[in-house]
Parts: sequence; C-alpha cells; structure tokens
Amino acid sequence: MSADQSPKAQAGAKTVYVKTFGCQMNVYDSERMTEALAADGYVEVATAEAADVIVLNTCHIREKAAEKLYSDLGRIREMKSERLAQGRSTVVAVAGCVAQAEGQEIMRRQPAVDIVVGPQSYHQLPEMVAQATAGRARFVETAFPDDEKFKLLPERPQTRGTARTAFLTVQEGCDKFCTFCVVPYTRGAEYSRAVADLVAEAERLVARGVVELTLLGQNVNAYHGIGADGAPWTLARLIGALSRIDGLERLRYTTSHPRDMGDDLILAHRDEAKLMPYLHLPVQSGADRILAAMNRKHTADDYRRIVAKIRAARPDIALSTDIIVGFPGETEQEFRRTLDLVAETGFAQAYSFKYSPRAGTPAAKLDDQIPDEVASERLTRLQGLLNAQASAFNAGLVGRTVPVLFERIGRRTGQVMGRSPYLQVVNADGADALIGRIVPVEITASSPHQLSGVLAA
Ligand code: 5AD
Ligand code: SF4
Repeated sequence: MSADQSPKAQAGAKTVYVKTFGCQMNVYDSERMTEALAADGYVEVATAEAADVIVLNTCHIREKAAEKLYSDLGRIREMKSERLAQGRSTVVAVAGCVAQAEGQEIMRRQPAVDIVVGPQSYHQLPEMVAQATAGRARFVETAFPDDEKFKLLPERPQTRGTARTAFLTVQEGCDKFCTFCVVPYTRGAEYSRAVADLVAEAERLVARGVVELTLLGQNVNAYHGIGADGAPWTLARLIGALSRIDGLERLRYTTSHPRDMGDDLILAHRDEAKLMPYLHLPVQSGADRILAAMNRKHTADDYRRIVAKIRAARPDIALSTDIIVGFPGETEQEFRRTLDLVAETGFAQAYSFKYSPRAGTPAAKLDDQIPDEVASERLTRLQGLLNAQASAFNAGLVGRTVPVLFERIGRRTGQVMGRSPYLQVVNADGADALIGRIVPVEITASSPHQLSGVLAA
C-alpha cells in the first residue's frame, strides 16, 4: 500500500511501518501482515520514524539484498536506541526470504532485531509482536508449518484502502529447481490454495473497490488447487471461476513457467474477456546448452513454439520475459543466441539481470563463473535491444484508442494515471472521479516507459 493511501495515525494509536523489497508476492505478503496487525489495533504509517513496529519484508533473489538489509538495520538500530533513551520502545521484525535464508544469523549480526519470520510463518507475527512488546522476547521462526498460513490469518477486511488493483497469491513455492534460483529453498515446495478460498478472497477485494486482480505465484501456471468438485483445477479453470465475479473487470497472472503453459491457459487468452492480453513468460536464455545447465527443462525452440501458439490464440498479446546474462560458462556465441531469440520474439517489456551466484544453489558451485565486466557488457547490449523493443511496442499504440483502468491521480495536477490492457502506464488529463473506472483513451504520445492520451468521448 502506498503512503498516500495510508490512514493517518491517531494520537496514541499503535503504529506499524512495513517496508517491502523484491517481488509482487512480497507486496501481497506485506499487505496481509499489515492487515493482521491492524486486527490488533495497529495503524499503518508511511515512515519508520513514525512507527512502533518496523517490519522489513526482504528479498533474496539477487545479490546485495542482504547488504541493503543490514545497512537499513544499522540505521534502525540507532533510532531504536535513541528512542529507548526517551523511554519509547520499538519492535523490529525481519520477514521474507532473507529471513528464511539467514534465520538466526540476522539476530547475531544485528541485536536490534526482535523478530525473524519466514514467508510461511508470518501469520504468527501479531502474537510475536505482542510478546516482543510486552516481554522483550525475541523470535526466530523459519519453519514450513503443515497448516496453511492463509487459513490462520484474519479474514481480509472489506473496507481497507482505496486501491483499485490488488494482488492475490494463488500458488506459492516452486519444485522446478532452476540451478541459479533460491526460491525453492526460501519459499518451499509448490502449494496451491483451494478455489473456494480464492473466490471468497477475490469477492472481499472486489467489495472494497478492487477492479483488477493479478493472480500471483512463483509458478502460477502450475496452479492445481482443489476445486468445488474436489478435483484439482488448472489456472485456466480458476480464471474462469474468478471471471464470473461481478465488478471484477480485469484479471492478470504472473509468473509463468514455459513448461506449464497448458493449452487451456493459452485458449483462455482467446476466450476469457476479462483476462488481459499480457503474459510474463521468463525464458532466461536463448541457448540450449545454457538452458539445460539452468535446469529449465525446455529448449529455445520449445519457447518459440509456445509463443507462436499464444499469438495464434491472442494476436495482440504483449509478451514480457526475464533473461539472465553471464550464467556460468556462457560463451559470446551462446549470448548471441539470446539476442537472436529476443530479436525474433519481440517483447513489449522485459527484465534482464546479470547472473548472481546464490549460496546453496547448484550454479553457484560451477567453476566457469563469468567475469563481471563481460556480464555487464552483455547486459548493456541486451538492454539496448529490449529498450528498443519496448519503445517500438509503445509507439505502436499511438493513434489507437484503448480501454484504460484509472488507478490514481497522476504526477501533474489535473492528471490521472491508469493502465492499458497491455499493462502500459497511461497518463491523461481528467478528474479524480475517473479513478476505478475503465474508459477509452486515445493514445497521443509514447515514451519507452509510458503513454499519454486524451479521453475519447
Ligand atoms: N541471478 C540473476 N538473476 C536471477 N533470477 C533469479 N535468480 C537469479 C540469479 N541467481 C532472475 C530470473 C527470474 C527472476 C525473478 O529473477 O530471471 O526469472
Ligand atoms: Fe526459480 Fe526456476 Fe522456480 Fe522460477 S521456476 S522460481 S526461476 S526455480
């Protein structure tokens, strides 16, 4: 939740500040932690300075996350001891994937931390905060409990905030074990929530004004939650069920794995009107030898075939991807295969990274790590191509009229900001009353990262 949406703390109220690092699932988890603490009377505030309870919800996917955490914690420690001198206490909690990976080590390195809680245990946060506040007890909880945390968290309030878009975690964890990735270790085994629970949560979100839902999972298209008939449902069937909720206008999902791109999901892009024409489908590399070393279990041609099927089902789909350069042993020729695949595919948007060895993953133990200068140079070349593709995709919208869901007021006065079906940011002059509505906008100009337009009458 952004600062402008937070309720003002009333004098004397207990306050909480949650800082979120990393992916959208952490954004969702932060929201749930905030709501769980709100049930105990905590009011969300926008800064650590204003908070009695500070939660850092961390990310472990690439390097520097832990270092950033410790530098944040250093500052918080100073603030905490200054406050203590004035007789005011502060509870500091580290949540998320660094908490899961480092556990006790965080307490050892930074004594200001009261609570370390992994992504599967945060339903226990309110109890831990209560005890830490009362008795100064410290907690480290990184177990993967048998009970689903979602069932143990308080029901989501129907009246919170004004956000028109929301995330909904439908699946968590990963059994794919790509050799570079920490997710299978930090988030655990693949787990899908039941359809009925997700429909109920979606209905509550819609009741509080949400118009667009993004279904989240580390491997969201591996979703196989239990449906009303007691059998496992695919993501496509779940999307069908959620589509029937009145007032919910748009659905998206992320992140997908090419291996789980089933035919019914591909056809849902043709048949489900509420499913937006946007797909984030990580490819990671265009070279088969590297894909095999990454344990991706697909080839570059498999990826091309999937893209062709999706485009046949939904010709205007905007494709997005993740790419890693400088994976151990990657040659210049193999890197060029990645450039070729990108050039052929044409992405509307993409995220590209230098390979970063993560302790405990198989790839970190490989001998032929690529020098940083080489990886940086490859990343620059790749990003040049990806940026050109993003600019071209955006420029292709100029002159067209597209339905825009307005989400918030824009940066400039008198402007509102929304998103196109293709997830592009669209700015237009218009009244605040447009927020939460989907209206046709004629696109008049584009830049690499956004569009501007005028309301079409
Ligand atoms: N190094 C670089 N990038 C990584 N990703 C995951 N692990 C690593 C790593 N060790 C990227 C992948 C993934 C995205 C979420 O982060 O591209 O799809
Ligand atoms: Fe990580 Fe691979 Fe699982 Fe994605 S599919 S979360 S990259 S292990």
